[in-house]
Amino acid sequence: MSKLWAGVTSGETDALADDFNSSIRFDCRMYRQDIEGSIAHAAMLGMQNIITPQEARQLQEGLKEILADLDSGKLAFDMTCEDIHMFVEQVLTQRLGDVGKKLHTARSRNDQVALDLRLYLREEGKKLMQELTALIAAITDQAEKCKTFVAPGYTHLQRAQPILFGHHLLAYSMMLLRDAGRLRDAIERMNVSPIGCCALAGTTYHTDRWAEGLLLGFPDIARNSIDGVSDRDFCLELLSCLSIAMMHLSRFSEELILWSSWEFKFIKLSDSFTTGSSIMPQKKNPDMAELIRGKTGRVYGDLMALLTTLKGLPLAYNKDMQEDKEAIFDAVDTVHMCLGVMTPMIASMEALPENMYKAAQNGFINATDLADYLVKKGLPFRTAYKLSGGIVAACMEKGWVLETMPLEEYQKFSPLFARDVYPAIDLKACASSRISVGGTSPESVEQQLAYVRQQVEKLTIDN
Ligand code: ARG
Repeated sequence: MSKLWAGVTSGETDALADDFNSSIRFDCRMYRQDIEGSIAHAAMLGMQNIITPQEARQLQEGLKEILADLDSGKLAFDMTCEDIHMFVEQVLTQRLGDVGKKLHTARSRNDQVALDLRLYLREEGKKLMQELTALIAAITDQAEKCKTFVAPGYTHLQRAQPILFGHHLLAYSMMLLRDAGRLRDAIERMNVSPIGCCALAGTTYHTDRWAEGLLLGFPDIARNSIDGVSDRDFCLELLSCLSIAMMHLSRFSEELILWSSWEFKFIKLSDSFTTGSSIMPQKKNPDMAELIRGKTGRVYGDLMALLTTLKGLPLAYNKDMQEDKEAIFDAVDTVHMCLGVMTPMIASMEALPENMYKAAQNGFINATDLADYLVKKGLPFRTAYKLSGGIVAACMEKGWVLETMPLEEYQKFSPLFARDVYPAIDLKACASSRISVGGTSPESVEQQLAYVRQQVEKLTIDN
């Protein structure tokens, strides 16, 4: 088929080559941004008298009609077109005749595609921020519900110290707040207009890049036209943000999977977010959490794919860059899906405080508190630590826990022990006494809840 770009070449290409070269299959999702960009371009061309005001109006009207027809389904994409930019121009020219052919004055598909992608990702980025904010709010609501539940905190997946379960959940709120911050920064840096860079060198026409950028809501424009058409940092940055966010969702999913196992039973996931087994009637599988963990690899893959595609490219545009879209679209779609499922899954899960408490009672997680008790009685910490280690070993031998070891036994280790050792190693008291800022005491958890809520409110207003 002969192409719009038939010039020095005949424009007659092999059908296989056409298919290989074409991106309309996946870039058609940017049709709205492509048309909005073209409407602004027509307006700028008219303002600058590069085309007549009458022509500019005709182009804008024609483009608006195409948009409405695509929205309503009256117009279908022609999959034999090379890309969405060619498709829109082709329909416009079919409908308007020669005027349609004027739209592409003072621009190139190189700056056009960079523009479309920025417009599209700016919007998706904002939606992702809203979804992330909703997830943070759901986690924080759960943390509020769980703020008095004593649970074992872990290091090396070994029971370490007693914590409040709400404190643990709030750690995820903090991570996701950083993700939202990173997304906000990425969107801000993305918000720069490349349109008017043209093929690479700029144009001979007296365009107004600032005005065109402003029409599209860009507060800034690319200052170097070669960079403007070659830059895909904004895709990489978004992919990095999404990869880090997925890493957080994956760690959380891993814990949900562990916690909902019979071995832990700290939580119950709602039936709506688990599945059964086709053979084992007793099974309740955390498929959604597992899939979120699994899809993380996919998003990392998208980031790696694009980093690798870009690493050897000479300036300026190269067709390799067409590979940016499937990677970034896949990551965006995946994260939308994961956030969409994670939020109601967290909101509907149920904590099982008795089981957490039972787990906290085993594993000598108050051994640090025992050492601290001796320190308060005047022993240097390292000596107290050693002594407490000996006591734990003795307990293990006798089948005691620290709470059930008789006072006479304690006193064999040190005369400093008195009856007040028992309240000092009570699990709830151990958690409550971790009063340092950010620690697990109820007051500190309240402060963390208030902080996160305030940040969520800020994010909601900013969005
Ligand atoms: N479909 C192309 C892409 O996605 C649009 C830009 C094409 N530019 C060109 N000079 N062939 O990158």
